[in-house]
Amino acid sequence: MTQRSLPPSVAFEASENEGSNPTQNPTIGDLVAARLSRRDLVKGLAAVSVAAEVLWPNALAAAPDAIEPAPGPSPFDFPELAVQPSSPTHHVAEGYDADILIRWGDAVLPDAPPLAPGKPDAAAQMKQFGYNNDFVGYIPLDGRSDHGLLVVNHEYTNAELMFPGLAPRSDKDSDFAAVTREIVDAEMMAHGGSVIEIRRENGKWFVVADSQFARRITAETEMAVSGPAAGHARMKTSADPTGTRVRGMLNNCAGNVTPWGTWLTCEENINGYFWSKAAAEPLTLEGRALRRYGAPAQWYAWGRFHDRFDTLKEPNEPNRFGWVVEIDPLDPTSMPVKRTAMGRFKHEGAGNIINSDGRFIVYQGDDERFDYIYRFVTDGKVDPDNRTANKDLLDKGILSVARFNADGTGQWLPLIHGRANKDGQVWLNEANGFKDQGDVVIHARLAADLLGATRMDRPEDTEVNPKTGKVYVMLTNNSKRKPDQVDAANPRAENLFGHIIEITPAGGDHAAPSFTWEILLKCGSPSVAEVGATFNPATTGNGWFGMPDNCAVDSDGRLWVATDGNSPKVTGRADGIWAVETEGPGRATARCFFQVPTGAEMCGPFFTPDLETFFVAVQHPGETEDDNPLSSFDTPSTRWPDFQDGMPPRPSIVAITRKGGGKIAG
Ligand code: FEO
Ligand code: CA
Ligand code: CA
Repeated sequence: MTQRSLPPSVAFEASENEGSNPTQNPTIGDLVAARLSRRDLVKGLAAVSVAAEVLWPNALAAAPDAIEPAPGPSPFDFPELAVQPSSPTHHVAEGYDADILIRWGDAVLPDAPPLAPGKPDAAAQMKQFGYNNDFVGYIPLDGRSDHGLLVVNHEYTNAELMFPGLAPRSDKDSDFAAVTREIVDAEMMAHGGSVIEIRRENGKWFVVADSQFARRITAETEMAVSGPAAGHARMKTSADPTGTRVRGMLNNCAGNVTPWGTWLTCEENINGYFWSKAAAEPLTLEGRALRRYGAPAQWYAWGRFHDRFDTLKEPNEPNRFGWVVEIDPLDPTSMPVKRTAMGRFKHEGAGNIINSDGRFIVYQGDDERFDYIYRFVTDGKVDPDNRTANKDLLDKGILSVARFNADGTGQWLPLIHGRANKDGQVWLNEANGFKDQGDVVIHARLAADLLGATRMDRPEDTEVNPKTGKVYVMLTNNSKRKPDQVDAANPRAENLFGHIIEITPAGGDHAAPSFTWEILLKCGSPSVAEVGATFNPATTGNGWFGMPDNCAVDSDGRLWVATDGNSPKVTGRADGIWAVETEGPGRATARCFFQVPTGAEMCGPFFTPDLETFFVAVQHPGETEDDNPLSSFDTPSTRWPDFQDGMPPRPSIVAITRKGGGKIAG
């Protein structure tokens, strides 16, 4: 089955899972024993010998739930939620309310019409809340935790869920025969992002109507290009001979906010939007890059109606996507800016912190099997007292990629054109296809390949713990890792359930060239020895999870993990939010706090500064597992629930608060 014949979320997973990194960068398999205990190694080898069909069945769901939590203080004070395999609605721990704040199709701009289910309407959609909300950020107004702006990414669209009766199931429509221009144009307006003003009164949140801040960003919103790729020959198109103006942002997955109150929204699987065979010669840098970035993958029909998404007609258009976009939500007239100094890849998130010397640090995952973890360090310092002084801070700095050594140390390898490494070798030069720094950032994956970065198990979100300075990286899974490809940082072959890495910068300096690292935990059922999960034994049968994806570290330094890929068949539980202890004897204890309805994945998550509200995002509810050819879970209907109340299941933002008020989980 081809990728484009899959529902989008499955196609994205398939692409991320496929991997495009052909390098043999160190898998350091011969050193693995140095990092793994004998017991871990035996478990890992056992896992290799077990076929995927055996690791996925209901046996996992039936694992005993009788492990009692160990006594001792926990930073999380909430009654654990009992996990369910499937449910028509979301669930939250007892004592909390989980209220839907806004859904796909609800008004963002004041004159937005109500959603007309089943009817693609681009003009209406450009004023309504977009589809598949992923990252959620809260930006306080006047420092308040009960009044602020919510910035939300709209990552992609599921036409087969949005337009029942008009669009056939995408897996029955591999040539997009029934996808009309009206559907494509509505999809383009349902992408991008939303800015909404929200307020909490009497304990309940609501969207402020007629807000001066309300804004929709779409696949057509004009954006500026800044940094080393601005004006570069590889960025020029017939519509933009300057190479400095792009229409739209695509597949914005996770992200973050900055200390100066802007929104970093990260373009991820941009390859799926482009049509036609590669236009470039395969041995050129451009030709190699198209393959390395998986473009064109043709998951959408956009290229039929919009020439810029056809690489034969506009070969440079893919280079204009795959960036971190900075948006100022406090100024609705501001132009979003693609910050190219931070590199072009399948960005997941943008965990960040102000370094002790004042420079701004962003940690970034490139979500594909065998791809890399990056760090960006600005040249300039954050000015905490002058917001506008930080306006172009992200345009100058050093992008580096991580190498993890078997002894628990690691290095950040700088991606700087013409720079010699410690052995006097220059890799990023014209001889290797890189004429300038623009080439390096546009084709950052190829540059990182040359430097010998460590190939990871799909780096998803990153977050920095503001209390400890430790950095958490979610590695969601990589079933394609072979036994001879395991390394210390990716120690499981056929890693179906993912793991979480903890990075500690050397000397507490986030700009330092080196770091140390640990695996915080390997995910999956602790009751199945072959899985090799390493949750703290205090973790209950409800507390373990697979496939860590988005995450948050709150201002108390507590880690919250959102998952994508748990299901009745795979782990016997829906996706959700799990609270994970990171310090002391409770380290690697997890407990379930929230679960999504059937078919959804869990995104967001983000806290208000007072920790009284936890915003989470429910993405693609109703995407049944029979849409997913990777699963054999039998669902009773092809679409569930079947458009109750005339409305399909709708992606939504949920505000979680404590009944009667107070801090979440503490
Ligand atoms: Fe859009 Fe890597 O999740
Ligand atoms: Ca994600
Ligand atoms: Ca995901």
